[in-house]
Amino acid sequence: MILVTGGCGYIGSHTVVELLKNNYEVIVIDNFSNSKRDVLDKIKTITNKDFKFYEGNVCDKNTLKTVFENNKIDGVIHFAGFKAVGESVEKPLMYYRNNLDSTLTLLEVMSDYNCKKIVFSSSATVYGEAKETRFVETMKKGIPSNPYGKTKNVIEDILEDLYTSDPTWSITMLRYFNPVGSHTSGLIGDDPSGIPNNLMPYILRVAIGELECLTIFGNDYDTPDGTCIRDYIHVVDLALGHIKALEQLFNLESGIKIYNLGSGRGISVTEIVTTFERVNNLKLNYKYGSRRKGDLPSICADPTLALKELGWKCEKTLDDMCRDAYNFIQKQRN
Ligand code: NAD
Ligand code: UD1
Repeated sequence: MILVTGGCGYIGSHTVVELLKNNYEVIVIDNFSNSKRDVLDKIKTITNKDFKFYEGNVCDKNTLKTVFENNKIDGVIHFAGFKAVGESVEKPLMYYRNNLDSTLTLLEVMSDYNCKKIVFSSSATVYGEAKETRFVETMKKGIPSNPYGKTKNVIEDILEDLYTSDPTWSITMLRYFNPVGSHTSGLIGDDPSGIPNNLMPYILRVAIGELECLTIFGNDYDTPDGTCIRDYIHVVDLALGHIKALEQLFNLESGIKIYNLGSGRGISVTEIVTTFERVNNLKLNYKYGSRRKGDLPSICADPTLALKELGWKCEKTLDDMCRDAYNFIQKQRN
């Protein structure tokens, strides 16, 4: 049985769908701090399968103990955490408290119940402001520019220390690049409350007329078209990466692993905008503006290790990402 913390969120819900499709027995715990209850029914509609759900805070030890006491949990995928970069700068304590507390509490309870297999949601942000534009797992970690990123760095360190102290653990840290897109059903996806900070949710709001105009942050970077380059990954590919990581956890006796989950292909902001317009047959209202503080010109994954050791690579295209994301937002608003 697999426990998924934060399984009602954007990446968690897509991963639960793939777990159920792969016949895993799933338990989800979420406190809906950044998700909606109806995601549960949507996952059931997509998969035609049921799963157990606990509403609760992963920081609460008693709640977690109840979950472990009443279920035979073989492994955990830990998504629960806060993720908004800007908000983390304004509310650092809230970010450190939630992201670190949830992880420490979870690891303590797992230890108590002798469940020692965990997949952790890390991020490309741990590379910090690296000079390189292609990130490989063997690179030294950098210093992220914001508290959110720093929590990921610290949690990676905690997991390393835990493994050093007790090598019977199996730990996999997945460093996500830029997840976008939605399940093809259009039932689940990324629709943050308030004005989005991330590119694709912003594009979607402009596409459906809820926001007037997309500002492309900078077109004077040293990149082929002057706009920033990122490695965008379809969320379903990302979810499948978790299935592969889990399979490996159950095949290996123990160990600690780090994998980049990205496509390995850099895509510029302008390329996303023009692809979105073409695929969805519409015109986006956009303009070029000044650079956003803290943005790096070009970031791309080297996903070689994930292919070699997990047999995983991205299968979906930028066209798929743009089409599925737009399908989701239209269904949401109808
Ligand atoms: P999300 O906010 O959509 O999902 C997180 C879920 O966890 C939400 O449903 C929220 O209600 C829940 N949650 C948060 N704190 C909790 C707590 N203490 N107890 C119980 N539930 C709690 O985020 P996401 O995009 O699905 O991201 C999942 C994970 O992946 C996060 O750890 C995030 O930092 C990491 N990540 C995300 C991205 C991205 O671009 N989305 C990139 C890199 C890493
Ligand atoms: C950001 C975070 C990263 C986090 C990720 C996913 C920073 C420095 N990094 O990555 O830690 O893991 O989100 O949550 O904040 N863009 C525009 N106009 C917009 C919005 C974005 O041009 O309105 C551009 C940005 O300049 C960037 C690209 O689109 O070049 C992607 O931006 P975004 O989706 O915010 O992701 P990152 O900045 O790569």
